[in-house]
Amino acid sequence: MDCSSTCSKDAAGESLKADILRLKKEKKAVVLAHYYVDGALQDIADYVGDSLALAQKAAEACSDARIVVMCGVNFMGETVKVLCPDKKVLVPDNTAGCSLADSCPAADFEEFVKGHPDHTVISYVNTSVEVKALSDVLVTSGNARKIVESFPADAKLIFGPDRNLGAYINSVTGRDMLLWDGACHVHERFSAEKIMELKKAHPNAPVLVHPECKRPVVLTADKVGSTAVLLKYALESDADEFIVATESGILHQMRKGAPHKKFIPVPPTDSTCGCNDCSYMKLNSLEKLRDCLVNEAPEVKVDEALAERALRPIARMLELSK
Ligand code: 13P
Ligand code: SF4
Repeated sequence: MDCSSTCSKDAAGESLKADILRLKKEKKAVVLAHYYVDGALQDIADYVGDSLALAQKAAEACSDARIVVMCGVNFMGETVKVLCPDKKVLVPDNTAGCSLADSCPAADFEEFVKGHPDHTVISYVNTSVEVKALSDVLVTSGNARKIVESFPADAKLIFGPDRNLGAYINSVTGRDMLLWDGACHVHERFSAEKIMELKKAHPNAPVLVHPECKRPVVLTADKVGSTAVLLKYALESDADEFIVATESGILHQMRKGAPHKKFIPVPPTDSTCGCNDCSYMKLNSLEKLRDCLVNEAPEVKVDEALAERALRPIARMLELSK
């Protein structure tokens, strides 16, 4: 059998990885990657994590680095820049937006906030730096409950921009936060019907659900949590198969950590394809990572005064997460 084309592809992949490792060292660069990017990027990154872990890493781990590369989406690059203003922060593709962040334009959110001057503003990190600057404290899916519960039970709270995460936190805390009407297009594509179909074929598989999913989907869950929480649950559980309702990039770490277990991605309702990818996260690639290290671009820039205002709610989140 002629393996020449496969072999040359493998060799190209290996030389790309070798270039990235060399450039990281030469340029004193630290590479952070979210669980939703391609497995090859997760494998070459210095730190892989959920949004909370990556913000914590950016706050503490980049001290020796000259460059920090964020393999994720733009709001994550902005968060790193706000936390590490002295570093050169790069992203492999600066067109990697986020439908959830886009569902909350800063000017509209400002009007909403002004309309409720007696409310504390809690925002999900999946927001632009301008929306962060309008917020009193930020949360991720990993710490939202803890941070909301740090406020008195009768506190008047606004929660933006994810209506699904906000509704989930309201349901588990008994709060009645005012919710911004935003959502993530990836997580909104899951349906309870598809999960119930999979459950018939795999009755013993626990259902793992990210809280950005709609209420009927959350109600099918054995475990609701951030990507890191779902990963931990999958690795520690005695079950040998799992139904997973979040972006499919997380399956890479699940399969790596427990190769003997079976992880079944829930397909999106409106498609026959097997998994639910975030097209923005999947804009990141090994080639683009190599190129951004070579060119030291695209660079994330945030206006200094804006960064100062955005830093306060991010720092408050990190403090409250300890
Ligand atoms: P976590 O990283 O908090 O699980 O959130 C997932 C997400 O949608 C990131 O874009
Ligand atoms: Fe944004 Fe959703 Fe993609 Fe996360 S998965 S980056 S929330 S669009």
